[in-house]
Amino acid sequence: MRAYVITRYGGPEAMVLQDVPVPSPGSGQVLIKVGAAGLNPVDYKMRQGKLRPLFRPRLPFIAGCELAGTVVGVGPGTNRFTAGDRVYSRVDAPGLGAFAEFACVPQELVALMPQSLGFTEAAGLPLAGLTAVQALRDELRIQPGTRLFISGGAGGVGTLAIQLAKYYGAEVTTTASPRGLTLVSELGADHVVDYTRENFAQTLRGFDAALDAVGGRALKGVFRILKRGGSVVSVAGIPEPKTALQDLHTSRAVAALFWMISLGVRLRAWRSGVSYRYLFMHASGDDLRFLAGLVDQGKVRPVVDSTYPLARISDAFAALETGRAKGKIIVTMADDGSSA
Ligand SMILES: NC(=O)c1ccc[n+]([C@@H]2O[C@H](COP(=O)([O-])OP(=O)(O)OC[C@H]3O[C@@H](n4cnc5c(N)ncnc54)[C@H](OP(=O)(O)O)[C@@H]3O)[C@@H](O)[C@H]2O)c1
Repeated sequence: MRAYVITRYGGPEAMVLQDVPVPSPGSGQVLIKVGAAGLNPVDYKMRQGKLRPLFRPRLPFIAGCELAGTVVGVGPGTNRFTAGDRVYSRVDAPGLGAFAEFACVPQELVALMPQSLGFTEAAGLPLAGLTAVQALRDELRIQPGTRLFISGGAGGVGTLAIQLAKYYGAEVTTTASPRGLTLVSELGADHVVDYTRENFAQTLRGFDAALDAVGGRALKGVFRILKRGGSVVSVAGIPEPKTALQDLHTSRAVAALFWMISLGVRLRAWRSGVSYRYLFMHASGDDLRFLAGLVDQGKVRPVVDSTYPLARISDAFAALETGRAKGKIIVTMADDGSSA
């Protein structure tokens, strides 16, 4: 089968399309014929070696963190899915393997995909969708009336977070450039700040909660716009000890390292009287079932920026790495870029 393989850590040339054997499902795994797979910034951060302290899959390995496709086989003890099921999944480290014609995934990370979607749209939901669900529902506990700020509303995470926050009843303010203003309004954002013209940290105040999907200066600004007692969850800023212990289940040494590198941001939070948490999302078939229900009820819809056939995946990565995508960039396994 064809697969996009990370052969070493480095630039775009470190990922190559190769012919590799079709994997066979182990105990508790399903074998999925991949219809489409979503691209995420974590894919190139992994290729660049930036996540090596946290994930060290043995090189070479097949990249790709999320997929949608059809179950074509199951391993011993697999009882949740049968051949023919149309499923989607956030394929977890260390296995990964979504950028391939077939992938084996533990059944607990898999769910039936939304019935109302084809593979192309479903493939972009798992990673960003789980991130939005876990940040808004589990960490920020958004309630009706919560005044919520989301930085980066037009990206893969932001487009889903806006819709989910509206589902939970929040009043949503987000940031976008002129390229994304119409999109984020259509998705339900109540207020939009054009970050290329306005510094939101100087003009906004009184928020209960913030989801930061940009990091850097945007994260710094967020602390100025929250009420005392508010909560900040970042998925793009600086990891902190809870990230290590709760999300990544790493050693206390990694937690200590994260304690040090997050000292500045935690002090900033403390001075502002708000809590700070860096969430690293986790793969979950249960949360994907929840998300599929919302999609089929019409509460949430995926936004696809562009699609590429697997043979042109390096072009897809070049597009992703510009950082300008509106919603998700998807690769399809059919050579003509189509996917049912
Ligand atoms: N911790 C986790 O578990 C987790 C999970 C998912 C993602 N992430 C991280 O979260 C970040 C966002 O991920 P993503 O998939 O949403 O990325 P993405 O889709 O590549 O984000 C691109 C979008 O961000 C917008 N953008 C860029 N700079 C901005 C700024 N300063 N203010 C507002 N919008 C801005 C761009 O809009 P314009 O071009 O129009 O400006 C573009 O539409 C990445 O760093 C990713 O690695 C972390």
